[in-house]
Amino acid sequence: MKTFLRQPRSIETQKVVPFTGEGAYHGSTKPRPRRAEPPAPLVDEMRPSSLERFAGRGAAKIAEFDARFPNLFETIRTLSVPSQDEIAQDGVSFCWCPLDTALREAGPLTRKVLEAMREQLEGSKRAVYVDAKIQYFEAGDVPVDSQLWHVDGSITARGPTVESLGHSVLHDMRARLESPATSPKYLVYQSSEHCATQYVAQPLTVRLPELIPNFDGLDQKVRALDPKYQRQPAAAIVRFDGLSLHRAVAAKSAGWRLWVRCVETDRHVQLNASIIECYGTVFRTVG
Ligand SMILES: [Fe+2]
Repeated sequence: MKTFLRQPRSIETQKVVPFTGEGAYHGSTKPRPRRAEPPAPLVDEMRPSSLERFAGRGAAKIAEFDARFPNLFETIRTLSVPSQDEIAQDGVSFCWCPLDTALREAGPLTRKVLEAMREQLEGSKRAVYVDAKIQYFEAGDVPVDSQLWHVDGSITARGPTVESLGHSVLHDMRARLESPATSPKYLVYQSSEHCATQYVAQPLTVRLPELIPNFDGLDQKVRALDPKYQRQPAAAIVRFDGLSLHRAVAAKSAGWRLWVRCVETDRHVQLNASIIECYGTVFRTVG
């Protein structure tokens, strides 16, 4: 499957669909067709250990626990802010693309970002993948189909035990919080500040079920705690991990934005559906 897509961009051809709030993060809560090929080998980083314990106990009820999110968020480098034309003309989006391929295929601006990110990699994981989108927002547009507080790279589980609990997918939050295997590591860049992701900027403890079907309950609890947060600065590369709460927000004004994320992970990701064509769609609240 294609992990990158080169295409000219314009305001007229920017894909826009109605905002539903239903997901569009990796690990979306929407049901999806069963895969024809065998699943990728399970690595410790993604092992749903509380679900495995739960299945072993034959328990009927999902237990709760105190989930303590350290909320790592640090700005590690700030590049010069590109012009709107530079962003619009950069031309290539990426989805789970190996870093070497992305460096070879990227437009000039994205390549500069990736070269800066490469210097900051920790090198403790088996693979490095790149996601990148070039999007044009009107004021009020959202870059993904959700504005919930969430974490990236959650441990998702599917299958008979999950289905017996009435869900198609469960996020094993306890395993992510308590597993000895470290979470994926992220470097993220946003070219501009008019649609800046928000990151919780203090440690936060949230009482949560060990297994959650989506991020709705987590989002409600985080909002009730009203934590301090920071916005991703323009042209900055920030570091966070799988225990960093963050959320997308609606654009404050119109304009182009380049978003680039580099993930270090032990997973071997092979796309089995071509999602690159719709990567970069923006979500608009109507009515
Ligand atoms: Fe995210």
